Amino acid sequence: MLTPPALSLYVHLPWCVRKCPYCDFNSHEGRGALPFDAYIDALIADLEHDLPLVWGRTVQTVFFGGGTPSLFAPEHIDRFLQLASARLRIAPGAEITLETNPGTVEHGPFAGYRAAGVNRLSFGVQSFDDGCLQRLGRIHSSGDAERAVRAAQDAGFDNINLDLMYALPGQTLAMAEADVLRAIALQPSHLSHYQLTLEPNTLFAAKPPPGIPDDDLGWDMQEHCQSAMADAGFAQYEVSAYARPGRQCAHNLNYWTFGDYLGIGAGAHGKLTLGADQRILRRWKVKHPARYLEVAGTAAAIGGDEDINADRRPFDFMLNALRLNAGFGLDLFERRTGLPATAISAELAIARERGWLDTNGDRVVPTELGRRFTNDVIGLFLPD
Ligand SMILES: C[S@@+](CC[C@H](N)C(=O)[O-])C[C@H]1O[C@@H](n2cnc3c(N)ncnc32)[C@H](O)[C@@H]1O
Ligand code: SF4
Repeated sequence: MLTPPALSLYVHLPWCVRKCPYCDFNSHEGRGALPFDAYIDALIADLEHDLPLVWGRTVQTVFFGGGTPSLFAPEHIDRFLQLASARLRIAPGAEITLETNPGTVEHGPFAGYRAAGVNRLSFGVQSFDDGCLQRLGRIHSSGDAERAVRAAQDAGFDNINLDLMYALPGQTLAMAEADVLRAIALQPSHLSHYQLTLEPNTLFAAKPPPGIPDDDLGWDMQEHCQSAMADAGFAQYEVSAYARPGRQCAHNLNYWTFGDYLGIGAGAHGKLTLGADQRILRRWKVKHPARYLEVAGTAAAIGGDEDINADRRPFDFMLNALRLNAGFGLDLFERRTGLPATAISAELAIARERGWLDTNGDRVVPTELGRRFTNDVIGLFLPD
């Protein structure tokens, strides 16, 4: 039986000061005055339109992602959260995260975000090396990032994530380690450590910058940085996520345990379990902000609806759960997919034979080898 899991709310805020050459997120360079108020209205109309899909359920986490959500002033975020909580129950103490670009917060609006109800910030730091930042086309310096994080801490934020990227053009192993050590020195509660990928349809993919470390060096960087983070008390719990005890990102954990999320905003994706119909629905919204503003709250804002049918569910589940160092329990697989654990026995046996997964009672845990070849392991579960 499919039982509806925890519900999260993802809110996409699509504008940035400048488009970074490596980024394939649905983010758009904001030119001129941005229609902040109209966009908040559109988000609320979008939310209202989707409400029948989540009647009676409580939102456990909220995530403002982008784009650059910190382009929106605290008043906008406050207005959204007030209007949203008049329509949808948000659990008391819910984790509410706002992605923040250190180049957009020079006037320190952190106390305002906190008063609006945001209790977790995620800073896009990327690197503390000014040469690397420049080659990445970032709008901030390492000093800007340090000042922004300290200002947020002074405003009372104690749950802070820093995004770092590694395997950057011109980066050495020592530089990658130095980035992690500077991040740790700021005493965040969480670190996200992403290997730079050349995403199709980006400037970097069209014309790769010189000096990108090869895979072996990228792997060395990952291993060295991982142990530096472990030494400082940050345990890796997912491919790219490291946390101090008790500070794992509840919103992302809900994705990785194949939980449910409502996605509102331009190009936002949602995944919802409709228990009464025994369906799992994926829904996404139209991508372009101008079009979204025109049609939000109507059926025309739905970019697509798709059922995750039974034959596809094992793969979609693994795409998330196998990212977790702790793996998953077979009971979770059954509850989230509505399928018996025997549906994946053959694939699990192959993965065990290849040394990619360990099974410990009812738990399935990736081995070190399996973590190195996550995509191959997940590929075993592709429907025929
Ligand atoms: C949607 S961005 C949000 C943060 C904010 N927009 C910023 O950049 O400051 C989330 C994170 O994804 C990572 N990211 C974006 N593009 C990437 C790429 N091509 N390869 C690896 N990581 C990437 C960056 O670390 C970025 O901070
Ligand atoms: S600021 Fe963030 S979302 Fe915007 S273009 Fe750069 S990486 Fe992408």
